[in-house]
Amino acid sequence: MTTAAIDDYVEFCNFMRKLTGIDLSQYKRPQMERRLRSFYANRGVTSLTETFARLRSDPAHLEELLDRITINVSQLWRNPEQWDIIQKQLLPELAQTGQVRAWSAGSSYGAEAYTLATLCHVVCGNRRVTIQGTDIDKRMVERARLGLFSNEDARSAPADLLKAGFEQVDGGWRAKMDLRRMTRFDVGDLLQMQPRPAAFDLILCRNTVIYFSEPIRDEVHARLASALRPGGYLVIGSTERVSHPAELGLTTKQPFIYRKA
Ligand SMILES: C[S@@+](CC[C@H](N)C(=O)[O-])C[C@H]1O[C@@H](n2cnc3c(N)ncnc32)[C@H](O)[C@@H]1O
Repeated sequence: MTTAAIDDYVEFCNFMRKLTGIDLSQYKRPQMERRLRSFYANRGVTSLTETFARLRSDPAHLEELLDRITINVSQLWRNPEQWDIIQKQLLPELAQTGQVRAWSAGSSYGAEAYTLATLCHVVCGNRRVTIQGTDIDKRMVERARLGLFSNEDARSAPADLLKAGFEQVDGGWRAKMDLRRMTRFDVGDLLQMQPRPAAFDLILCRNTVIYFSEPIRDEVHARLASALRPGGYLVIGSTERVSHPAELGLTTKQPFIYRKA
């Protein structure tokens, strides 16, 4: 795709919305455009017409583009310092109510949800735990349901906790049945979802809204805050922040952890 074609960004966004349901116009344009530009430059695609025709007729090409757009990078125990706080401070407090209803919003292939499931298994004993994972990318949701992870995915996982939640399989790790029973994965677009008020005790939304424009990111944070019950927690990525937490009824517990008042 040439620079001139990419300048037809709005047309490209409309096309992708119709084809895949993903509304790229809500994402940060400079980053998204850069990713698209390099994707097409590497493939020698030179016109918008050629791009549309290929995306319509070649599922493998569309898959590759989706990989480029959605950035599914994840891993078990990503940002271990956050998991330490979740394990030692949040879960013991949340478990006192007898149940933990959690949501991994932007769950990719499930590493975050199964990390949380392991910690719930260890910390919450026989309390009722449900962990909902949602992602816009259907392929990632299907992968998450399998609960399979590579050795590379497990590189930051503490050995004892990894063993508690996963069994070794050829080339990696599989979440144990107990964890798979706690978790459920569905396709969900954070730009469209209207979660029920106070439906969750804990929401993890890490490294996902960073791709959205700021006003859209703030709207998503507001919806997540309203989906928390009073006393529930929102955990965001370690490089992210909620713009005006007080306006959403949130107090800051740690730079990346907010408590619903
Ligand atoms: C970098 S991954 C983050 C995975 C995990 N939360 C973590 O921190 O390791 C970002 C995920 O957000 C998903 N995503 C992007 N736009 C989305 C949207 N509008 N709604 C839901 N998920 C979205 C992508 O498909 C991708 O799997």
